[in-house]
Parts: sequence; structure tokens; C-alpha cells
Amino acid sequence: MNDKTINKIILGDALEILLQIEDNSIDLVLTDPPYFLDKMDNKWNYKTVSNITKYCNVVKSLPPGMKFDKEQGMKLYEWFLEVSKQLYRILKPGGFFFSFSSPRLYHRLASAVDDAGFLIRDCFIWLYTQNQPKAMSLNHFIDKLNCDEKMRTELKEKLNGWKTPQIKSCFEPIVVAQKKCEKTFLDNMLKYNVGLLNTNVRIGEEMFPSNVIATDEINEDIDKYFLLPKPSKEEKGKFNTHRSVKPIAISEYIIKLATFSEDAIVLDPFAGSGTTPVAAKKLGRKFIGIDSNSEYVEIALKRLENAEKDKGCEICAEKLQFIPLEAKTDVFHKSRNCVFIK
Ligand SMILES: C[S@@+](CC[C@H](N)C(=O)[O-])C[C@H]1O[C@@H](n2cnc3c(N)ncnc32)[C@H](O)[C@@H]1O
Repeated sequence: MNDKTINKIILGDALEILLQIEDNSIDLVLTDPPYFLDKMDNKWNYKTVSNITKYCNVVKSLPPGMKFDKEQGMKLYEWFLEVSKQLYRILKPGGFFFSFSSPRLYHRLASAVDDAGFLIRDCFIWLYTQNQPKAMSLNHFIDKLNCDEKMRTELKEKLNGWKTPQIKSCFEPIVVAQKKCEKTFLDNMLKYNVGLLNTNVRIGEEMFPSNVIATDEINEDIDKYFLLPKPSKEEKGKFNTHRSVKPIAISEYIIKLATFSEDAIVLDPFAGSGTTPVAAKKLGRKFIGIDSNSEYVEIALKRLENAEKDKGCEICAEKLQFIPLEAKTDVFHKSRNCVFIK
């Protein structure tokens, strides 16, 4: 089956398609699954999701993630346990599984991955400063209280600034799990070409790879250690209507960290608009993408068509480096965002 799926985006339910992939055949799984926030579950419907995300800040139709329902976590756990069991089966021994998550549901997602047999190796954090604060004032409810105007005003003053428990969310956790190696790390690496992480990859200003990543400049120290390239205007594609497109640089960073061979197969079972497959293609890796929504599959295919394998800098013939901080480098090949420190 893998031959038919390699370098393809497959339309279908992930659980069904995964059943058709061979045991021990995938080098890396990198995905951004539905988080079961409101309607964003495994039946993720384009129109419903578009509608709920459109109504952010409107009291009667709360933004995604605000309708707190304790069942969400359990449902996510049960479903993701089945997904993770399949991923465990099809990953090569020692293969890595990286999954984006949400701060509120991380524990359920990580437990599902753990209970499916994976070793939880780490938790990456994608750090950012810009996000819509979701905490709400209670003034709207105070207005509806059965009391006089004076009491309402006093209550509003008393609770001024006290809001529902949703302060600005500024990070996304990424579960890092690994299928058990066969024998030692070395035996496993020699047999399967997976199981170790590539510490030659650089982040920030030529720094050792870290589990904190940022894609926007924040301040000098954070940028120095954690910054990846900011998403360009073009990378998403004007035609891309997906609601949660991730930066290609994050996928590239993880693929470089976790895949050794150029023949490595990177699987994204919830590929959305194709960010992970695009990153894999640019790095010359093989990919398999799955999504249950035909509109997103079309978008992913279009992005893949536009994506070219990264041939490195035309001027110096080296592969792109990570951070274009012109001021702090000696050579800056602007046309290709290429940076060298002499
Ligand atoms: C958070 S989005 C992924 C976005 C992606 N990282 C990107 O950059 O475009 C999750 C995706 O999972 C898909 N999805 C939801 N349930 C699914 C299922 N049961 N099988 C396959 N795909 C599913 C949705 O259509 C959605 O595109």
C-alpha cells in the first residue's frame, strides 16, 4: 500500500487510511490533529469550523475553545488512543511522533500517545506573543441581574478587570514521542535510519536545537536561542482558506531533527492545507498526507505544486540556514534568505 500512497495527499478518514499503511514503514509522524474544541473534533466540518471561528468575540457564539465541556478531553483521549495505536504500528522502531496540541487538552493527548505504547520523550513549545485574549467580562451577565441600577454599577466596579479564566494563550505544546527502539539506539539507527535526533540542526543564531521555538521576533535573548524563520506572506498561498495553517519552518525544523535518510517517509494524518507535506517536499523527503476534507486536500495539492525542492542558496550553494538576522552576520544572501557566520 505504501507505494500507492507515497507523495500523495489522500482524502479520507485518518483511522481508515492508516489501517492500509504497512507496519514499520514510516520514519516520522508530524501532525496537528483536531483538538476537540467545540466543533473542531474528528468530524471537523469546514463550514461549521469557519462559522464558529468567524464569530469570535460575540457573546452568544463564543470563540472555539470557550465552551468548556469536560467531556471534550475524554472524547479526544479515546479517539486519539486509536489513532496513536495505528501510528505506533506503522512507524519504524525508534521512529518519532510529533503532535501539536493545546494547553488545555495536552494531558489527554499525551496520555493517549503514552497509553498506545509510545515513550514520551519531550514536550516542545511554540512560543508567540500575539493571540486574541479570550477572557470575557461578566458585565453582560450583571446587566441581566434582577437588581437595581446602583447595585449593578457597584458590582461592575467591584469586578472590574476580573474575567472568565482564559488569559491570553501564548504557546502551543507539541508532544514528542518515540516508538521503542529495537536493541540499542545504535543498532536501531543502523538498521532503520531513525531513533536519534540531529543536533547539527541550528536554531536562532546558530544555536544547539532546543524544545522552545518561536517564529516571530520577540526580544534579543529569545530570538538568539529560539527563533525560526518567520512565515513569508507567500508560503500559505492566497487561495488557502484553512483556519489553522502552521508555519512551514516548524515542520522543516522537526523534519530535519528527526529524519536521517533522504528516503525518509514523513506522514501527516491530519494534513489540512499541507504544511507538513510541503516542508517534506522542500527538504527532499517523501511524504504521505491525509485529510477528511476535500477542500483542504485541493489546497494542499495546490501548495505542493507550487513548492519546489530547496536547492540551497544560488550564490553559495549551501542549504538555507535558519535565521536571517542580517545585523549579526557577515554574509547575507538576501535573495534566498541565506545567512552565514564567518
Ligand atoms: C488543525 S488542522 C491541520 C492544519 C495543518 N497543520 C495546516 O497547516 O494546514 C486539522 C485537520 O484535520 C482534519 N481532520 C479532522 N478530522 C479528521 C479525520 N477523522 N481524518 C482525517 N482528517 C481529519 C481537518 O479537516 C483539518 O484540516
